[in-house]
Amino acid sequence: MTPPLVVAVDGPAAAGKGTLARKLAAALGLPYLDTGLLYRAVGRRVLDAGGDPRDPAAAVAAARSLSAADLDRGDLRGPQADMAASAVATIPEVRAALLDWQRDFGRTHGAVMDGRDIGTVIFPDAPAKLFVTASPEARAKRRWLELQGKGVQRTLADVEAEMRARDAQDAGRSTAPMKPAEDAVILDTTALDAEHAFRMALDVVRARMGA
Ligand code: DC
Repeated sequence: MTPPLVVAVDGPAAAGKGTLARKLAAALGLPYLDTGLLYRAVGRRVLDAGGDPRDPAAAVAAARSLSAADLDRGDLRGPQADMAASAVATIPEVRAALLDWQRDFGRTHGAVMDGRDIGTVIFPDAPAKLFVTASPEARAKRRWLELQGKGVQRTLADVEAEMRARDAQDAGRSTAPMKPAEDAVILDTTALDAEHAFRMALDVVRARMGA
């Protein structure tokens, strides 16, 4: 029997992968999973307990006791949560604790999953893989505008500096670093709007599925 379809959508922050993955999931009739939420929820639990997200013991305990309700929290985004997620994500045992859950999710009904290592580690055999990226300047501007829209006052320079620091940490870690899978199609959204990026991504998936 053919396994359910898993589409891997990886890439750095604010490249548009969440919006794109959600649209793909709707078009393909598949569930969507934002795997960044798992790392965000682990980071948040460590912060709540007054711990340091870089401390392996605290982060692993948080990852092992994660529950579905943790993913529904309203405070998983923002500069502190961003860096906490990126910090816990460097710890191999944290990644190991979250691996089976992600694989079970995809294997049950298929999925469009966005993250950093879906195409390289979680589903290396996924038939369709996209690596969604954009210039650091474009990504910082998008994130800054998003924050402005929420009434959060930050300078563009601060947002860009934080984003570059997080990219460096995500791409530089030794376990499951952010990088395109060898068979991923790179989609640069610097000059694309969300609809255009979606149409290109859907073409890629259909071509990979032979449709
Ligand atoms: O996608 P995001 O920005 O919500 O992810 C938050 C952090 O979680 C990101 O900086 C690195 C980590 N992450 C990861 O290491 N692997 C994933 N599959 C998803 C996220």
